[in-house]
Amino acid sequence: MSTDINQLRSEALEAVNASPDLESLKETERSFLGKNGRITDLLKKVKGLTLEEKKSFGKAVNTLKHELKQSIISKKKNLEQLQVETQLEKDWIDLSAPGKRRQSGHIHPLAQVQKEVESIFQQMGFSIIDGPEIESEFYNFEALNIAPHHPARDMQDTFFIDKAADEKEGRLVLRTHTSPNQVRTMLKWGAPLRVIIPGRVFRNEALDASHEHTFDQVEGLLIDKNISIAHMKGIMQEFLAGLFRKEMKVRFRPGYFPFVEPGIELDMSCVFCDGKGCSTCKKSGWIEFMGSGMVHPNVLKAGGVNPEEYQGWAFGFGLTRLTMMRYGINDIRHLTCGDLRINKQF
Ligand code: DAH
Repeated sequence: MSTDINQLRSEALEAVNASPDLESLKETERSFLGKNGRITDLLKKVKGLTLEEKKSFGKAVNTLKHELKQSIISKKKNLEQLQVETQLEKDWIDLSAPGKRRQSGHIHPLAQVQKEVESIFQQMGFSIIDGPEIESEFYNFEALNIAPHHPARDMQDTFFIDKAADEKEGRLVLRTHTSPNQVRTMLKWGAPLRVIIPGRVFRNEALDASHEHTFDQVEGLLIDKNISIAHMKGIMQEFLAGLFRKEMKVRFRPGYFPFVEPGIELDMSCVFCDGKGCSTCKKSGWIEFMGSGMVHPNVLKAGGVNPEEYQGWAFGFGLTRLTMMRYGINDIRHLTCGDLRINKQF
């Protein structure tokens, strides 16, 4: 009998000791001390023994039961402690470790320059206006004094949409320039006005390093009383100086655009050589910058503005070209190709 108990004792203690986790400890407890556990079974046998046997055997089994319980309690404590430690180890954070850099996007170079342009003009009292990219022939051409068979329509190869705006406004087109918003803005806000209209324009061009079917322009329009082209010269000099952060000169050459009279091509002093002459400005010291002029009376009329009372000037320059110049990008297609290796450089 006593060897049985000794055997059981070492088996039980061994099993408790070897329990790797709380779950298996419970199982061990059940197999020895549970309803049909091996020690419980022995205790059941005590009833049928003689008083003498009860004394020694019963005592031995009870001692074993007690001893096993104690051993289970202390093993349980150990396992619980181990569980907490493992969890802590898992949850450990090294507060001194260097942070992981968050990959965040950034503004496209074109949008960066647009923001700068807007901010400079805003400081000079201009509002920023938006207009539709899908235009009617009326606003894109007629209202700008470009008659249906005027050769100027060929200057800007147009994408037509297979749908009419309405009878009066003709077919729908992808706007070939931002100028249609001159008339839209006059009709909406009336005179006086001081606005710039940045936006995307579309032309059916043969593509090369300096021509894309989609590019961005900025239109400018100032309408007020007693306005002359001298005001435009001042504003543009101020704008270019703000953008390039140095003194800039501008010069006028005659140019032809049906919606202005007189029409002017405005050149700026070469930003790369400050007018001394370099390969970019082809040794001239000047870079062509934009078309402009005094708003044609027909355009004022189309915008509901009385040309006897108000005059003004307008301009349009290529924001895409300006961005290329600003960042030294030599191929227009880089700007729209969506290759992040290019965008990430700016
Ligand atoms: N819309 C013209 C173009 O895309 C540029 C232009 C020329 C705009 C003269 C103007 C202007 O406002 O007065 O080529």
